[in-house]
Amino acid sequence: MDQDVVMSIDTAGEARHPDLLRFRAEFPLLAATRYLNTCSLGALPARGRAKLDEFLAQWDRLGASAWYGYWMDELAALREDFGWAIGRPGSEIALAPNVSVALASVASALDAVHRGDQAAPRKRVITTALDFPTLGHQWLARATLGVELVVLPSPDGLSVPLEAFAAAIDERTALVATGHVYFTTGAVQDVSGLAELCHERGALLLIDAYQATGLIPTEVAALGVDIYVSGTLKWLFGGPGNAFLWLRPELREALTPTTTGWFSSARQFEFDVSELDFADDGRKFEMGTPAVPSAFLARGGMSLVREVGIDAIHQRTVDLGAHLIRLADEAGLPVRAVRDDARRAGIVAIEAADPTSIVTALAAEGFVVDKRPGIVRFSPAFYNTEQEVADAVSVVARLMESDQVPPRAEGPDR
Ligand SMILES: Cc1ncc(COP(=O)(O)O)c(C=O)c1O
Repeated sequence: MDQDVVMSIDTAGEARHPDLLRFRAEFPLLAATRYLNTCSLGALPARGRAKLDEFLAQWDRLGASAWYGYWMDELAALREDFGWAIGRPGSEIALAPNVSVALASVASALDAVHRGDQAAPRKRVITTALDFPTLGHQWLARATLGVELVVLPSPDGLSVPLEAFAAAIDERTALVATGHVYFTTGAVQDVSGLAELCHERGALLLIDAYQATGLIPTEVAALGVDIYVSGTLKWLFGGPGNAFLWLRPELREALTPTTTGWFSSARQFEFDVSELDFADDGRKFEMGTPAVPSAFLARGGMSLVREVGIDAIHQRTVDLGAHLIRLADEAGLPVRAVRDDARRAGIVAIEAADPTSIVTALAAEGFVVDKRPGIVRFSPAFYNTEQEVADAVSVVARLMESDQVPPRAEGPDR
């Protein structure tokens, strides 16, 4: 490896977004580590901690009165924040503690769709081998109801072509459930192309946007999506405990969840056990008492995303990914990433026979990165620097050059 080449820092991206680096000071984690793992967990901004302190102070001062004076308002504000991130009003959002719960609620309503036309029921759900397990598991768990999960393979390990979906979606398909951005590869899907395909053939499209929300400017209605779920762990810098669900308003009206809780009730505070009238907005798909401390934390992250702006975050993140790919190519490392900036979000991987030892060796030098089978996964965010990226590539190149961690055998350029 030529150290000089790897260390020749291209600061073009930084020069394009010099203003963004001032936000680094808000993240103590960035002073403590060289953090390149936002696709797993976004760093905690100071304002997230301040919001959590605000929650604790209200609890200390007000007890249960905090619900009516502050906490219900905070939950409504969080729905607005989520709506803003996908170009919809907050009234169309259902809060959930994680994506799995959001999926369980909507899957319970889709059981009726699966039963549908008794003569020709639509029993199939299509997902892909690159999707997050919890997405497919919702429908694997419904095997006893006759629901069948079809998992499309990825020919190149990076994405699944639209043609593969086209070949699979037919009159037996109730739903296509897949990611906006694949969580191991960062590949951005052609969501509107998928929506068109689904609707031509009478299927619904559910998108798991966990690796897109806050990072990819999104107008969910214009994409033609039917159901959209996401959460705050990663590119919304809001930590665990918060996710959301959006349904196309006509679909929301048409569907009835069979897994529910009292926050979905139109008259929640009448405490009438004998009647259930669902709220006529997004709350129809909510469950029980929300994780309020998490909601406060999430509002801190959302405030940051709103201030920085999703367009700027997107541009900067894609720049840093391109920088990583360029340096890794120059160092002769086996990059596994989408080369087209327009189709790559926040993830770039380097193939490795033994990713665990590379991640461990990087940790010894202060880097936090992640691994998946066969790859070391990097996800620089808007708050990272070109220098951090270059230093990480440099260490990987050094490790792979030594015989301790041999690179994988030559494969196709993916
Ligand atoms: C694409 C994707 N979906 C879902 C999740 C998480 O799902 P849940 O909120 O149910 O834990 C993650 C990561 O944790 C993810 O990357």
